[in-house]
Amino acid sequence: MDFGTKKEAYVDRNIVMELVRVTEAGAMAASKFIGTGDKIGADQAATDAIRRALNCLDISGEIVIGEGERDEAPMLYIGEEVGMGGIELDIAVDPLEGTDITANGGENAIAVLAAGSKGSFLNAPDVYMDKLAIGAGYDFSKFDLDMPTAEIIYELARQKGVEPSCIVACILNRPRHAEKIKEVRSTGARIKLIGDGDVAGALATAMPESGIDILLGSGGSPEGVLAAAALRCVGGNIMGRLLFRNDDEKARAAKWGITDLNKVYRTHDLAGGEVMFAATGVTSGTLLQGVTEISGGRTSHSLVMRSKTGTIRKIETIHRDDTSEQVEVSRPSAA
Ligand code: FBP
Repeated sequence: MDFGTKKEAYVDRNIVMELVRVTEAGAMAASKFIGTGDKIGADQAATDAIRRALNCLDISGEIVIGEGERDEAPMLYIGEEVGMGGIELDIAVDPLEGTDITANGGENAIAVLAAGSKGSFLNAPDVYMDKLAIGAGYDFSKFDLDMPTAEIIYELARQKGVEPSCIVACILNRPRHAEKIKEVRSTGARIKLIGDGDVAGALATAMPESGIDILLGSGGSPEGVLAAAALRCVGGNIMGRLLFRNDDEKARAAKWGITDLNKVYRTHDLAGGEVMFAATGVTSGTLLQGVTEISGGRTSHSLVMRSKTGTIRKIETIHRDDTSEQVEVSRPSAA
C-alpha cells in the first residue's frame, strides 16, 4: 500500500472507517454472551461476525495475527485471505480480547483489529511476551526490559516530574507477576491489577484520563502486536520480548522466521509502516463503553485511529433492531 497519491489516500481514509464496522459487528455478536459463562460461544460469535464483515470489504486482506494457525483455527487463521478484492492489507485481529471478561460480565472486553501494508506486523507466534508500554512524551530509550522494576518506576517518575507514589502501573493479576507487583509497590507506586485485557491496558497508558502510566508484565504476544499498532496511532511506545516455555514454542517461533529468541521488539518492530486500528467495546471499561441495550436496538462505542495522521475518532453507533442500517450519532474528537 502506497499512500503517495490522492486516490490511494482516499481509499485508505475510507477503509479505516470500514474497519470500525468490522469491530462493531464482533462486539455486537459477543455482547449476547455477556455474563453467560460461555466464553467459547462468545469468542465464536465474535469470530464469525468479524470474518463475515471482513469479507464484505473491498480489500485483499491476509490474516497475520488471528485465531491461531491453520490446523488449529477454522476461521481467521493465520494466512487466511479475507475481503472481496482490492487494496492489499495485512490484518491483525483479536475478535474478542477478553473472553473470560465477557463470559463473567467484567470490564474492558473489546473487539479489536489493526490493518497495515504488507509486512507491517511482526509474525508473532502465540506465546507469552514480556511487555513495557508507556504513553507519549517520555524518552523511551531510557527504559529497558532488563532494568529492575523499581528502576523503571523511578525513571518514569523522574521523567514525569512526580513522586513514584503518583505513578500507576497496570499489571495482569497473575501469580507469575507476584515479584513484579512487590517491586512496584516497594517504590510507593500504585497498581491497577487487571483480570484480563492487556491491549486495553497498554492503550490506557496513552490516554491521560485513564490514570494509568505504564503497563508491565507478560501477556500474549498477539496482544503485544495489537497494542503496538494502537500506540503507533496515539503516540505511545511499547517494547516486548517473547517468552518461551518449552521447545515446542521455540520451534513455532522458528517457523515464523524468528531466529533471535531474546530480541527485544520495539514499537515499530511490532507494528511498522502505516497502520490503522479499530476497537469496539463489548463490556464497559476505562477505554470504551460496552454494547448497551436501548429501546429498539443497541448502542456501541468504538475507537478508530490511523498512524499516518494520528487522528483518533470516537464513534457512538445506534444499531436498530428493525433495520440493518446503522446510524452514527457522533464523532466528537479528532486529534
Ligand atoms: P483472550 O481473551 O483473547 O483469551 O485474552 C485475554 C488476555 O488477558 C490478554 O489480554 C492477555 O494478553 C492474555 O490473555 C494473558 O494470558 P494469560 O491469561 O494466560 O495470562
